[in-house]
Amino acid sequence: MKNFYITTAIDYVNGSPHLGHAYEKVLADVIARFRRLQGDRVFFLTGVDEHGQKVQQSARKRGIPPQQFCDEVSEEFRALCAKLNISNDDFIRTTEPRHKTLVRALLQRLFDQGEIYRAEYRGFYSTRQEQFLQDKDRNPDGTWPELYGEVTEITESNYFFKLRAYQEWLVGYLKENENFVFPRYRQKQVLEFLAEPLNDLCISRPKERLEWGIPLPFDENYVTYVWFDALVNYYTAVVDKPGFWPADLHVIGKDILVPPHAVYWPIMLKALGLEPPRALLAHGWWSINGKKMSKSTGNFVEPVAFADQYGVDALRYFLIREMSVGQDSDFSQAQFLARYNSELANNLGNLVNRVLNMTNRFAGGIIPAPEVDEGAFEQDEQALRLSWGLVCKHLIGFNDESGKRYPGAYEKFEFHSALASLFESFAATNTYIEKRAPWKLGKSTAASDRALLLTSLAMMAEALRIGATLLRPVMPGTADKIFAALGHTPHATWDPGLNDKKETIMNELTWGTRLTGNKVAESAILFPRPEPKK
Ligand code: ME8
Ligand code: MG
Repeated sequence: MKNFYITTAIDYVNGSPHLGHAYEKVLADVIARFRRLQGDRVFFLTGVDEHGQKVQQSARKRGIPPQQFCDEVSEEFRALCAKLNISNDDFIRTTEPRHKTLVRALLQRLFDQGEIYRAEYRGFYSTRQEQFLQDKDRNPDGTWPELYGEVTEITESNYFFKLRAYQEWLVGYLKENENFVFPRYRQKQVLEFLAEPLNDLCISRPKERLEWGIPLPFDENYVTYVWFDALVNYYTAVVDKPGFWPADLHVIGKDILVPPHAVYWPIMLKALGLEPPRALLAHGWWSINGKKMSKSTGNFVEPVAFADQYGVDALRYFLIREMSVGQDSDFSQAQFLARYNSELANNLGNLVNRVLNMTNRFAGGIIPAPEVDEGAFEQDEQALRLSWGLVCKHLIGFNDESGKRYPGAYEKFEFHSALASLFESFAATNTYIEKRAPWKLGKSTAASDRALLLTSLAMMAEALRIGATLLRPVMPGTADKIFAALGHTPHATWDPGLNDKKETIMNELTWGTRLTGNKVAESAILFPRPEPKK
């Protein structure tokens, strides 16, 4: 059994959670749930980033101590995870003792090894970005770009980490590991960044300027630079769990790929004698109704309220169906409602209701066995089975005769195309039902019509079971409702926790008769007409 360690970025607690945070958690959750289905032993981490200038400022604005501020806002992020049905195994806070102790121990180790030195530094400093700037950061006209806010020249004595010493190693590592960054074209951006000589990284902030941070173990007049603290969270969570380092995948947004995750982090680990993560997934950014997300302009989607209004799984579905991983996307209310109505309610919702309805009407609510052997299936039944076989292959992947593995869309992070194919198969199943027209067959007294009726009832229930299995990583609550309505208890292992059972999705994806004899529910309401906003 393979261990798979996946993380999200840890969110700054300087504001409430927004759609971007929700997306990243859902994306990582889909991957974690898919991996569990494949039989991996998954450890899934998310959490919050609580130190630094921005948090200190936000707490001051509220007039409360930073720890109290963090305690409050962190609960909002924890509640977001629960609301979104995120299957994380741990939730880390960077103010926890386990984390602070480790950051200090690692800093001390680097200091003792001579990887950290003290130097006088004079330069232009952006408070908003908490970083020193260089001339190359200026606009062509010499001014500083808007994103840096107020920029002032300061002189400071600080501690520096020898980033430069590892530049060549990192370039070599990236060349040897072509799939380190997904999407691949972003790996080129990392190499472009590394084409210029790196500056050593300033890892300290004098306490007069910033108090809210982890004190340096070798000089208590300074706190640790927030990125040096935050990145370590990934290691903190598994330091006592053998077999989970290096992380298999860090899921992050494109804005924090270069330099923090693709440059600082691998070099920090290398200097510590630890292995770099196996891969980084950099997703794109959401805009809302065509505009940049911003609280001040009201162009904002509050994910918890949205999930309350339309259902968690509808939100999860839209986020994953709409965004091609790595690209930017727009969250438009109109597009959301269009997909909700046509794909969820009319396609999948309709299919579920038909299966339940007709099984109740024509078979006393008990899913019948097909009346013929597979070998004697009519053409329409053959075609339906074939199309579901193909969508399983497309999503999950397969081995050919020689045992070579072809990864499926889920494994390649092509979730939007996976869902498009899956919903085409739901539509094809609806078309099959219309063609078979059980409501007509039910009126006939001919034995052959009765056999065809029972076979088609068995076929559509089985198609729905397979479809719900494939859907589950994205819409776990909906899939479980469908299973319950079909009287089905899946054998696959897909719950959080380090589960050592051997069952995998493969057992669940073979077309068969395991539903035969099950009692179905009267009805199931999966996608109610959304209440108009009051
Ligand atoms: O960067 N669309 O925290 P953060 C999609 N604490 N994703 C978005 C987004 C949007 N509009 N806005 C933000 C931090 N994100 C650091 C991370 S990791 C050791 C430390 C994503 O709260 C963003 O790309 O600003 C990032 O991956 C995550 O939300 C947290 O952003
Ligand atoms: Mg940010």
